[in-house]
Amino acid sequence: MAQIKKLVGIKACVFDAYGTLFDVHSPVGRVAGKLGDKAQAVSDMWRLKHLSYSWLRALMGEYVPFWQVTGESLDYALAVNGIDNPELRDELLNLYLTLDAYGDAVVALKGLKKMGKATAILSNGSPDMLEAAVNHSGLDKHLDYVLSVAEVGIYKPDARVYQLVVDRMDVQPHEVCFVSANTWDAQAAANFGFQAARIDRFGLIDENIPGKPSLMLDSLAELLDVV
Ligand code: 2OP
Repeated sequence: MAQIKKLVGIKACVFDAYGTLFDVHSPVGRVAGKLGDKAQAVSDMWRLKHLSYSWLRALMGEYVPFWQVTGESLDYALAVNGIDNPELRDELLNLYLTLDAYGDAVVALKGLKKMGKATAILSNGSPDMLEAAVNHSGLDKHLDYVLSVAEVGIYKPDARVYQLVVDRMDVQPHEVCFVSANTWDAQAAANFGFQAARIDRFGLIDENIPGKPSLMLDSLAELLDVV
């Protein structure tokens, strides 16, 4: 059960995109029949490598647009599961441009706008891939900013990424409620100085790394009662 308490002085609510607003398993879900009993393994490995490649590239100083990493991680996930199907690979990759938005995303964003809060996405996603997913889902109508790490040329959880929110939205860290379903992202955001909320979409527990979110949420809609 989420421990609900009030966050004080919040001017902006900033959301992670992939895994938080958008369901990263929806591409495989749409073509699961073509993957048979390997569908879940492919989707899980795709997500795992999508993130681990971003962390490795950040440490190596080898930033490339997240769209390229989306393809490279998918290629690994298919290969390690013994799937060699270029057409299916391209179909899966393109589905990442039209990911399903979670049902609670529009509820939260619309409600936060009505409350006078600034709303934003802060994501590893390249601007083009974020624009495609945001416009396809209709969330663009309820977002004031869509911020991509492309502006700083490094991935989360580098502090320069979270600093983008302060610089572009003209807010102080403590005035930001940062929301993510990715534990390490929510914790890094808390460590940066945001008031962080973790939405527990995957039944995870906090990582043993710096940063402790202020809130645990079961649904993004709960934000309307706490900010
Ligand atoms: C995002 O930055 C962490 O992939 C996640 O949207």
